[in-house]
Amino acid sequence: MKIAVVGTGYVGLVSGACFAEMGVEVYCVDVDEHKIKQLQQGILPIYEEGLQEMVDQNAAAGRLHFTTSLADCMDQVEIVFIAVGTPSQADGSADLSAVEQVARIFGQHLQHYTLLVTKSTVPVGTAHRLEKIVRQELEQRGQAIEFDVASNPEFLKEGSAKKDFMTPDRVIIGVASDRARRMMSLLYRPFLLNNYRVIFMDVLSAEMTKYASNAMLATRISFMNEIATLCELTGADVRMVRQGMATDQRIGSKFLYPGCGYGGSCFPKDVNALVRTAAEHGYQMQIVQAVERVNQEQKKILYKKLHSAFDGQLAGKRIALWGLSFKPGTDDLREAPSLVTIDLLLQAGVQVIAVDPIAISAAQALYGDRIQYTTDVYRSAMGADAIVLATEWKQFRLPDWKRIRQLMNVPLVVDGRNIYDREELAKEGFLYYAIG
Ligand SMILES: NC(=O)c1ccc[n+]([C@@H]2O[C@H](COP(=O)([O-])OP(=O)(O)OC[C@H]3O[C@@H](n4cnc5c(N)ncnc54)[C@H](O)[C@@H]3O)[C@@H](O)[C@H]2O)c1
Repeated sequence: MKIAVVGTGYVGLVSGACFAEMGVEVYCVDVDEHKIKQLQQGILPIYEEGLQEMVDQNAAAGRLHFTTSLADCMDQVEIVFIAVGTPSQADGSADLSAVEQVARIFGQHLQHYTLLVTKSTVPVGTAHRLEKIVRQELEQRGQAIEFDVASNPEFLKEGSAKKDFMTPDRVIIGVASDRARRMMSLLYRPFLLNNYRVIFMDVLSAEMTKYASNAMLATRISFMNEIATLCELTGADVRMVRQGMATDQRIGSKFLYPGCGYGGSCFPKDVNALVRTAAEHGYQMQIVQAVERVNQEQKKILYKKLHSAFDGQLAGKRIALWGLSFKPGTDDLREAPSLVTIDLLLQAGVQVIAVDPIAISAAQALYGDRIQYTTDVYRSAMGADAIVLATEWKQFRLPDWKRIRQLMNVPLVVDGRNIYDREELAKEGFLYYAIG
């Protein structure tokens, strides 16, 4: 089978490489000429564990091609996946301009029955919109070529994207025809050997499933952050409360960790887009709106804790910020809590030294020399008035606290992910603040 995947970001590149790994011939398409040139030379635009090897091997085997022209591969492929970005607009709704642009090119160059599949996260109703766009293009060409539009929302997580794609919990596919269903079944069959589930449904429900899932996960995080705040106010320990809750099988343990807020390219954007879709249908989603409000506030928590630790006297302090990416395993900084913390610290006249194993160059593009950077936690601790942990990279989990204590000016640790042991740090002479 030959397919095209349009958009070579986190989702498109990982999907393309994983399909190629299963023997499919894949054309990865992107409008970004620089990105495509780099990819043709084996240089990846993103970091994901195991992705480089998979791209190298499949490109060498002739199963993975990189191009800027969808038009050029339309005569070859049976399925075109849309994996372009759908960023938030000012009003919170998803910007569908890139998705629609792909549908237009698809319609302009359709030559035989081809299945158009949205893998990007798109609001409920988008597939119908794309179908209209393709029909309009075909009418203009005076052609009546058959096509279908299906929805196959992606659930991979940055940081474990390859593994998630190769062995997902389930695959959601929304189709409107038997032909589309058969093609998607065939494409995903190699993954089925590992015995996971493909759930077929109608297109609208598939589109909604993605938003409902992300909103639910975001809700769990904001809910736990509110519980953590109440624990602080009442003297309860949120770590114990979390354990107590998580052992209830009806609740489970996932996404129940309080912290300094969720970030990334998906949760904030998708939560806002869901609220917006509801508003367009005359409905106000009160829980989902509150989820995002709580998160906005939570992202300021590291700053607030520092502010109170220093009685508001932050100007001139030197703060080591551990972790820039929105979560471990990725260089993605989009909506990362670290950015809110850095902005607030810079406004307060603080000198920030940021530590991250992967995301430094992405942060340099945003902050230039307004902050300092290092990959070495010990270097960051030299003369520091506090260490603030924003991302729980494995490298940060077991530092030599004795050594760090000697390097620091003030032995203060603010743990935004609750990964350290309060007693252990107290024993080493640290003042320790966590979440909840
Ligand atoms: N990143 C994730 O973890 C994740 C997970 C699940 C779903 N999603 C969804 O998948 C979609 C893509 O997300 P991403 O993180 O991969 O985005 P990304 O920003 O990393 O990549 C998007 C790519 O699309 C390209 N592009 C933009 N317009 C184009 C066009 N008209 N034609 C061809 N290429 C174009 C860009 O150059 C870029 O390379 C979004 O809708 C997102 O919500 C993302």
